[in-house]
Amino acid sequence: MTVTQDQVLDVLRKVQDPDLHKDIVTLGFVKEVKIAGGEVDFTIELTTPACPVKDQLKSQAETLVAGLPGVTAARAKMTADTRARGGMGKQEVPGIRNIVAVGAGKGGVGKSTTSVNLALALARRGARVGIMDADVYGPNLPQMLGIDAQPEVTEDKKMLPPEGHGIKAISIGMLVPPDQAVIWRGPMLHGAVQQFMRDVAWGELDYLIVDLPPGTGDVTLSLSQSVPVAGAVVVTTPQGVSVSDVRKAVGMFRQLNIPVLGVVENMSYFVCGHCNERTDIFGSGGGRKMAEDMNLNFLGEVPIDTRVREGGDEGKPIVVAAPDAPAAKAFDEIAGRIAQRVAIQAMRIPLKIVQAD
Ligand SMILES: Nc1ncnc2c1ncn2[C@@H]1O[C@H](COP(=O)(O)OP(=O)(O)O)[C@@H](O)[C@H]1O
Ligand SMILES: [Mg+2]
Repeated sequence: MTVTQDQVLDVLRKVQDPDLHKDIVTLGFVKEVKIAGGEVDFTIELTTPACPVKDQLKSQAETLVAGLPGVTAARAKMTADTRARGGMGKQEVPGIRNIVAVGAGKGGVGKSTTSVNLALALARRGARVGIMDADVYGPNLPQMLGIDAQPEVTEDKKMLPPEGHGIKAISIGMLVPPDQAVIWRGPMLHGAVQQFMRDVAWGELDYLIVDLPPGTGDVTLSLSQSVPVAGAVVVTTPQGVSVSDVRKAVGMFRQLNIPVLGVVENMSYFVCGHCNERTDIFGSGGGRKMAEDMNLNFLGEVPIDTRVREGGDEGKPIVVAAPDAPAAKAFDEIAGRIAQRVAIQAMRIPLKIVQAD
């Protein structure tokens, strides 16, 4: 007795996507079912390669299919087709599925560090990732990624973004000498942001991470006017849990119609580089509490670890230099949660969080 395709699909209806609250067959995630004697091969296509529950869905599906009568082996191949946020009338950037802005808050809270490590974590999870350094005041992404190349220009006059650790990067620092960048004003900034989107040969990207400059302002405004932004990640620190700073930033994103994906608390606690022991220097938990108070998702806390700074200084961020370090794992988990939030929004399923002020 050979198992039928219908039997396989029926049993796979028991596998629920925990975020979308529907089963994977109804969601159309099961793409191909091949039956050869007792062996069943099938493909599950998720909405992001960085899905945090990928392994769980795979083993659940395989176990269920393997339990059908007559099945001797069940193998699920996991793929992904990253959904893009809808255009909403604005001109989409061809090839770029989701633009995620990282920002808000003062300088020095770790926006760039977070941007770079999140980008690399998404890439390690199998996504195609680009990063755009929009910090006119202190563009430091090229250094953090160990890139000192200038973008080459293609035949059709587009800039080819140099790559570092497998992700494509463009920085305002590659285009102008740093001492000139600070005098840029609104209209020039707007031009630069548009150029970064239109005149860069990004190719196909699942995520473009945008590292915003400190504070609220021109760059975020230009970005929101130029492209549909899938969402923003707000970075804060526990001692600076200056609620008013974050509140201002969140207010700005909401005003610009950029969904706030959630809050990251950076430099949350200290992890000893030798013994990995945790110490709460400032008393952690402020970011989580603030997120709850403001009805935002809390995406996770990242410890202080000298390896985070060293990784940035040396062009080898901790996510690639020491992927097992607690800070690297924290960035990886946060990246998964961000991919999850973006996918949920792209499916147009109402968010749990309230977006009104
Ligand atoms: N979790 C962390 N542990 C240790 N050092 C960190 C951590 N996050 C950021 N840093 C360091 O703090 C400084 C400021 O970080 P940066 O990402 O440049 O902040 P921002 O972009 O918000 O101005 C950098 O020297 C960076 O290496
Ligand atoms: Mg920065």
